[in-house]
Amino acid sequence: MLRLPLDKTGASLDSRGEDSVALERDRLDAALNATDEAILMIDEEYRFVLINDRVGELFGFTLKDLQGADFEALLERMRNCFADPQAFDRHLWETEHNPHLVVEEEVEIVCPERRVLRRRLGPVYDQKGTLIGRIITYRDVTREVEINQMKTEFVSNVSHELRTPLAAIKGFVSAIIEDADTMDEDTRRNFLGIVREETDRLSRLIDDLLDLSRIESGRLQMQEEVIDLADLVEDVILSIKAQAEEKGITLGVDIQAPHVRFVGDRDQLAQVLLNLLSNAIKFTPAGGKVRVRVEEKKDTFDLSVIDTGVGISAQDLPHIFEKFYRSRRAGVKMEGTGLGLPIAQELVERHGGTIEVESEEGKGSTFRVRLPKRRRRPQPQGKWGEFALGQAG
Ligand SMILES: Nc1ncnc2c1ncn2[C@@H]1O[C@H](COP(=O)(O)OP(=O)(O)OP(=O)(O)O)[C@@H](O)[C@H]1O
Ligand SMILES: [Mg+2]
Repeated sequence: MLRLPLDKTGASLDSRGEDSVALERDRLDAALNATDEAILMIDEEYRFVLINDRVGELFGFTLKDLQGADFEALLERMRNCFADPQAFDRHLWETEHNPHLVVEEEVEIVCPERRVLRRRLGPVYDQKGTLIGRIITYRDVTREVEINQMKTEFVSNVSHELRTPLAAIKGFVSAIIEDADTMDEDTRRNFLGIVREETDRLSRLIDDLLDLSRIESGRLQMQEEVIDLADLVEDVILSIKAQAEEKGITLGVDIQAPHVRFVGDRDQLAQVLLNLLSNAIKFTPAGGKVRVRVEEKKDTFDLSVIDTGVGISAQDLPHIFEKFYRSRRAGVKMEGTGLGLPIAQELVERHGGTIEVESEEGKGSTFRVRLPKRRRRPQPQGKWGEFALGQAG
């Protein structure tokens, strides 16, 4: 922590009190350095008298910068970190011209990395109520801002996804009602078929959203049992076979590790495989192949879904596990809402596993689920699971 040297502030200490004052000061310094906030204090003559270590961390100063540093030079460096350096000048100006003012706002810095900080500026009074300086604090709120943004995006995505099928349903039903006298039977049937498809789409979307919220809030219970993974794969393949055949896709199974046993939730793991397989079938053109492989590795059981389909571009690849993300391939319109992979990922993570993907555009994709042979105890159910257990015991 940096303080303006005592002689500069004009303070003097008699020799008897020096030790205890030094101790007090060390304690205060330690406390100020231990806080999460970057703190700067200005005295009544508008000089900086205190900068804690967190300022250095947030604005990227090293220990070397701080040793023997002069305040002005440090302030100039801080100023240059602001996305809008004039905002920093404004802070100082406000401090100087409105000594009693309290201001709170968000500011952005760009070095050493882009961050959003909540700045608070306020007066400091002594015990008699005399203004003795002003304090500026900066708290890193980057993560909070990101989460808020994600929530807003999520709500707007959901609304959009709900509105599209609803608009279609309303349009076709209105046409059927309004043109009842003139509409021929074929057209009416056709329209009703669309209404049914869109209704299915709506309920699929709502089911997925409910699943996701149950998983994320920890409300989805895990029913653990010993699962033979090869057996599980065969079952899932059976349930999706017709869909593959209809599209002219060959389904294959490659069991390199027969009879491996894994303790987990059978339905949830089946859902993971189903989501991956339905993607593989959806994104593989007729005549292609989709294979599921079961392998035993040193620490994991690996389930891979391998397809010879359209692949995923390098731009899309980092995003496909995001909710609602779907690649926008020109001219190709695919069913779906972009919740299949995030759901699969959540379910695998609940089993202590990971999903990896390798893909190249035009050359097919491989999604590999890696389930750990040894797993920590299952996560407590819900946020308060552990607390509740503690209470009971
Ligand atoms: N096997 C695959 N081959 C090519 N692209 C894939 C494959 N699997 C996923 N993707 C890409 O990732 C995106 C997200 O997949 P995800 O399963 O989350 O959503 P979806 O299949 O579009 O919709 P939903 O699963 O909700 O019906 C897909 O839209 C697609 O662009
Ligand atoms: Mg999908």
